[in-house]
Amino acid sequence: MRYLIGVDLGTSATKTVLFDEECRVVASASEDYVMAQPQNGWAEQAPEDWYQAVLHTIQAVMAKSQVAAADVKGIGLSGQMHGLVMLDAEDRVIRPAILWCDQRTGQECAEITERVGRERLVAITANPALTGFTASKILWVRKHEPKNYASCRHILLPKDYIRFRITGDYATEVSDASGMQLLDVPQRQWSEEILRRLDIDPAFLGRVYESPEVTGTLTAEFAAAAGLDPQTVVVGGAGDNAAAAVGTGVVSDGRAFTTIGTSGVVFAHTSTPRIDPQGRVHTFCCAVPDCWHVMGVTQAAGLSLKWFRDNLAEGYREREIREGIDAYDLMNAAVEKVPIGSRRLFYLPYLMGERTPHLNPDCRGVFFGLSAIHTKEDMIRAVMEGVAYSLKDCNDILQEMDVQVQAMMACGGGGRSPVWRQMLADMYGCGVTTMQSEEGPALGVAILAGVGAGIFRDVPTACREFIHTKNTTLPNATAGAYYAKGHRLYQKLYRQLAGCYEDLAEL
Ligand code: XUL
Repeated sequence: MRYLIGVDLGTSATKTVLFDEECRVVASASEDYVMAQPQNGWAEQAPEDWYQAVLHTIQAVMAKSQVAAADVKGIGLSGQMHGLVMLDAEDRVIRPAILWCDQRTGQECAEITERVGRERLVAITANPALTGFTASKILWVRKHEPKNYASCRHILLPKDYIRFRITGDYATEVSDASGMQLLDVPQRQWSEEILRRLDIDPAFLGRVYESPEVTGTLTAEFAAAAGLDPQTVVVGGAGDNAAAAVGTGVVSDGRAFTTIGTSGVVFAHTSTPRIDPQGRVHTFCCAVPDCWHVMGVTQAAGLSLKWFRDNLAEGYREREIREGIDAYDLMNAAVEKVPIGSRRLFYLPYLMGERTPHLNPDCRGVFFGLSAIHTKEDMIRAVMEGVAYSLKDCNDILQEMDVQVQAMMACGGGGRSPVWRQMLADMYGCGVTTMQSEEGPALGVAILAGVGAGIFRDVPTACREFIHTKNTTLPNATAGAYYAKGHRLYQKLYRQLAGCYEDLAEL
């Protein structure tokens, strides 16, 4: 039997899964790390924490499974997108990585638009300048930390920093590179024009591969430390969303998924690059060679619930420790008893600004409609409904763009919640389907590794063979009618508060 490893470098933890060649889970392990927020709207992590988590979780799956090193044929890397990792001439990390949800770069986005021109920027990178993307982070370091910028020799995305540590190669692949705003997305290669106009040295960037292509093999040193064979191939892999698409079989037109992880994403596959002229959803290369995807992003989806759990619902954490039941499961059970609409309580999930549909780094979270009748559980349900309303915003734009969605999958930690899935089904007005395997991104990149290692013929064939659906949550028309009204008020709240967010940012 041959084996494959999928690594998913998330924002709250790294999860590593060892699969056999029929995509069955043999062993898995995860390790958490922290996200630092040195200022309101900033988000950073230490790349060394990622590396340690990757090393430990690979060691753990190898120890648990007792699989022989030589039988592990390939590794696929997936991870949080857009983060900026800078290395100096000695390959040392220069400063903490600036993450996808960091919102400090509003001015740099204006500068990018000015230097390139909005139309040209959208034509080449398929997206307007966004605070979440890597290019504006690079310009921010150049302006605010000139010494750091002067010592920079390599720029890598989070999972590509791991690739560098385990193979020694400076490389990336098209799906994650699309989120740097330096790639010509229709042509799937670095854009000389964008790099020239932004005055970024092309030598800083790694070589771009397609996601299933082999980018290298393990260094002898890493192989020995991890308990693997140095001949094990590492493939391009994918940004976490493109990886989740493979792991949920979203690899052909008409298929889409909603994931609720730290961020929330509504993702649809397209065989041609479809661009929203208003830039409210992103267009990126996907992990299937020569295909693309469009996706809308809610910045603080699972993050909203995690924030509530950690700061306002400590009781659930205490019960988790006491009763050995996951705090999120306890919260879900409690929320099921709260009526639809959370007794007229609304939550706007803008803890880290918002991308789709507002593209506004300065908006912030809101509870609206609080009354003395409300309980903590009403607030938890309102948080979940607010996130679902935001995902409905994303889904509505895909429909407006006429991107066909015939099948909607659910994945991510939040996708495991039956309450959240029912909200999505009711708001979207369509069935929401779970997968037999819940491994999403890790499974997706293990499949890419299997293609690179020559075990599978290609990505769609492997998905047809190994990805299977589990069950479908159907929409409820009465709930849908309520949520349609609720969504109108949810949208109105943002419009009414737009000016207040500006004032808040200036306070
Ligand atoms: C996508 C995005 C997030 C991160 C978090 O554009 O920024 O989904 O990839 O995992």
